[in-house]
Amino acid sequence: MSENKLLSLLKQMTLDEKIAQLMQLATPFFKGAKEQGQITGPMAEMGVTGEIVQNSGSVLGASGAEEIINIQRTHLEENRLGIPLLFMSDIVHGFKTIFPVPLAIGCSWDLELTEKSAEIAAKEASVSGVHVTFAPMVDLVRDPRWGRVMESTGEDPFLNSEFARAFVRGFQGKELSTDVERVAACVKHFAAYGAPEGGRDYNTVDMSERELRENYLPAYQAALEEGCEMVMTAFNTVFGIPATGNKRLMRQVLREEMGFDGVLISDWGAVKEMIPHGVAEDEKEAAHKAIIAGVDIEMMTTTYVKHLKELVEESMVDESIIDEAVLRILQLKEKLGLFENPYRGANPELESEVVMSAAHRKATRELAGKSSVLLKNEGILPLNKEQKVALIGPFAESGDILGPWSWLGSRDEAVTVKEGILSKTSHLTVAKGCDVETITDAQVEEAINAANDADVIVLALGEDSEMSGEAGCRANIQLPSSQLNLIDHLKSLDKPMVAVLFNGRPLDLHGVLDKTDAVVEAWYPGTEGGNAIADLVYGDVNPSGRLTMSFPYHVGQVPVYYNHFNTGRPQGAPDAQERYVSQYLDIPNEPLLPFGFGLSYTTFSYSDLKLSRETMTEDEPLDISIKLSNDGPVAGEEVVQLYIRDHSGEVIRPVKELKDFRKISLEPGETADVTFTLREDQLRYHHSDLHYLSDPGTFTVYIGRNSKDTKEHTFKLEK
Ligand code: GLC
Repeated sequence: MSENKLLSLLKQMTLDEKIAQLMQLATPFFKGAKEQGQITGPMAEMGVTGEIVQNSGSVLGASGAEEIINIQRTHLEENRLGIPLLFMSDIVHGFKTIFPVPLAIGCSWDLELTEKSAEIAAKEASVSGVHVTFAPMVDLVRDPRWGRVMESTGEDPFLNSEFARAFVRGFQGKELSTDVERVAACVKHFAAYGAPEGGRDYNTVDMSERELRENYLPAYQAALEEGCEMVMTAFNTVFGIPATGNKRLMRQVLREEMGFDGVLISDWGAVKEMIPHGVAEDEKEAAHKAIIAGVDIEMMTTTYVKHLKELVEESMVDESIIDEAVLRILQLKEKLGLFENPYRGANPELESEVVMSAAHRKATRELAGKSSVLLKNEGILPLNKEQKVALIGPFAESGDILGPWSWLGSRDEAVTVKEGILSKTSHLTVAKGCDVETITDAQVEEAINAANDADVIVLALGEDSEMSGEAGCRANIQLPSSQLNLIDHLKSLDKPMVAVLFNGRPLDLHGVLDKTDAVVEAWYPGTEGGNAIADLVYGDVNPSGRLTMSFPYHVGQVPVYYNHFNTGRPQGAPDAQERYVSQYLDIPNEPLLPFGFGLSYTTFSYSDLKLSRETMTEDEPLDISIKLSNDGPVAGEEVVQLYIRDHSGEVIRPVKELKDFRKISLEPGETADVTFTLREDQLRYHHSDLHYLSDPGTFTVYIGRNSKDTKEHTFKLEK
């Protein structure tokens, strides 16, 4: 439908029909629904009529081709102008084939596989009738107490930007209007939802505009540059105003500066939440602030349908503001081809063939293997298939390895660690040993009996998925004490122990890392998790994951992140005093495990760091090379990371900033020249006046296997 036809359709709509188009309710409100549909937030009492529902513009949480076809058909029969519904759902790391959680995917540093995972998720979602996914979530995170760190790709703005692009490319493809196997993406949560005070969900976010622009906005910008069709507002405040009613953030920053002209949707209930936030007296004022801020769709509250007409009649809101919002929604429906084919890719016959296919399971198994991180290995991994293994722990036979936001995945169809190991060897005994948060003497006795005859103990430990995800915040980020007790009981047997962890956040690993011989961070690895872990434990896959979020030494360090500032009294400075420096009396400043960290079954060495010149300019970038050798016994992948440090800026500059990386595969004994080009624009930063530019001066380039273990060389930028 051409733009003119959309405009003429808009002209035919009554004000009531236009306002209803701005409302999004969950599936149960719609005729034709199977009363299913995912309720993912506080369910407010809705005062909506059937007539309003039949004029609404979009549906939240539907899934299943048959149901969506039924809802759409019924809607089109009743909607006066035949305007089709948009179907939107949370497909964050897979639809029915569940991939590792995004924090795990980030640790793969594999953008190609990331894009592939989103493409597969889109293919399964679109054949099931979904048009839009509420993903990628690109909120930068530095606080593992926050439950939703599992949904982010970590603490670095550059890396998060690269993953944001990969996810959007995978979800949307190149031609959304004709490629019905793709879905529109909705980047979230704008903005800075990942920085709540105290790591407590929905809590206040308060930071300088310079910090917001330097670290928190780049990944959203990257998603928009990749063509992301929608943006979702964040629950939190920005500059003291809830994002959902923040006109400056949404109209000036997002739309004018960042160039976004697509559909802006509120998060669940976020419009009405301006009342408890304390910036709206009532629903009418909340509706007023949200529509003026440019929020096109109100999710799961009904302030718009209750009050916008009155606001227009009172000349508080010009009808053109509503027309603008409706037109953006109609344009998205047009982009998705819904006026021509309101059922798009929905295909009940094809659905069962596409969803959870062998190829999709293979893809999630591969990505789970690359997303897991080997945190310790005192020479006991990989195991050989003749060893007698005692698999012990609450996750030994658990399907709860899909993680949050896997509501369409099936735990029953997830491959457990037990099943994965049994596919490799029959020398296996299994005991639960404890529950996630409780332990009994009987469980301990069963575990010890299972372990007595074993050559090696494999522990399957972690957080259940309710201890992570939205509203899943923890002040104590250790494993539950039941599991730490289990480790102590088994430690007394003096047998080699491997700990495999299933969790959604960096943990304080005291009591785990120091008491076991090997630790594999598996995160929530998804549908094929058990097979992926078995692949790693038996060496069929060589671990290559690298952490994208620091593991604190203790929760008291939080926030702890690699790209921190130096302070005026850094620890360890040549002239540092014993006491009067920036430090704790009782714990180190450094995290237990740094950003970029991860081990392999082989060993890599770095040598011959070379720069093409000592001084670079805007027109003369720096060519950098380093030799990487695989000195170990098996093939492996290394993530070669390139950081810089700006030694003196107009404002303080981080001690390190990731600017590029290469994931390099090498056979045993092989050496490769790894090359980078560093450009002047990669040295730019936000100055105190918010101008984004580089300064001439001295820099250091660091190249290495993680943010601590690097080789370095200084250079100058001349302008
Ligand atoms: C939730 C989440 C958001 C999700 C939305 C719809 O509250 O914050 O990420 O997309 O509701 O389910």
